[in-house]
Amino acid sequence: MTAQLPPGFIDIHSHILPGLDDGPESMVQCLEAARRYKAIGMNCVIATPHWFRFTGWAPTPERIARSVAEVEEMLDKAGVPLKIVPGMEIGFVDSLQPDFPAAQLLPLGGSGHYLIEFPLMVAYMRPDQLILRLLRRSRIKVIVAHPERCIAFRDNAAALAAMTAGGVLAQVNINSLLGGFGREIQQTAINFLRHGLVHFLATDSHASERRMPPDRDEWKLLGEYIGPAAVATACDENPRRLLAGEAVVPVIAESGRLEKYFPGDCARNDKKKNGTNRKGFAGLLRGLFRK
Ligand SMILES: [Fe+2]
Repeated sequence: MTAQLPPGFIDIHSHILPGLDDGPESMVQCLEAARRYKAIGMNCVIATPHWFRFTGWAPTPERIARSVAEVEEMLDKAGVPLKIVPGMEIGFVDSLQPDFPAAQLLPLGGSGHYLIEFPLMVAYMRPDQLILRLLRRSRIKVIVAHPERCIAFRDNAAALAAMTAGGVLAQVNINSLLGGFGREIQQTAINFLRHGLVHFLATDSHASERRMPPDRDEWKLLGEYIGPAAVATACDENPRRLLAGEAVVPVIAESGRLEKYFPGDCARNDKKKNGTNRKGFAGLLRGLFRK
């Protein structure tokens, strides 16, 4: 797999295939997203259309493979060659635990790692236990998608730490770090980085106006916030290691940068890093009353 990968950055989470989910509606939007990728030096993306059990968004592996081939052909003809690797973003529901339908699901490329997202607004008491149980029962490997956007992980680096200690990898959205989803999600993302809990930064682009891949200014800002070496780890070296079946490393921001750009921002989250999960229902209630 890695021998076929072009040089440059790799996006491991992208809704670039048209007509499968809430990503692009047409090849035109898809082409526009591809041009944005190329402009920031991304030459390969892993296509991760949503897969939600019992919904209309449950594309088969064959359908995804067909779409990848069609999009690659279109991009080649347009002179915007972009390597596309098939994958999925699988919505977590409790029923996956006793019955993980591996035959219907795609890992990211040949990595054997499944990209799983938690519902954004469900305050699971112990998301770490749910995922670790899934790992044990189904003998699979998991990358958790944008935990910083999920309420179950807000103020709850301990849950993500328990997961990563158990072998789960974590992907944070670039737009979360840049503040595109608001200050609280940005602080959560920074906090995860500070604790060495992040392995990948990805666009989670939906190839539509509001959620396109980053432009050059946004990409530059990302480099400013964490340093070019951390960007390389998160968006180049670790994705290549993942696709080669090798171990990845935590993304560590260049010394002083987070302190410079986010001074004192994460103090509230840092108070929670005592190794126990303190979010839970009480934590949620507290959050409702916090100004
Ligand atoms: Fe996504």
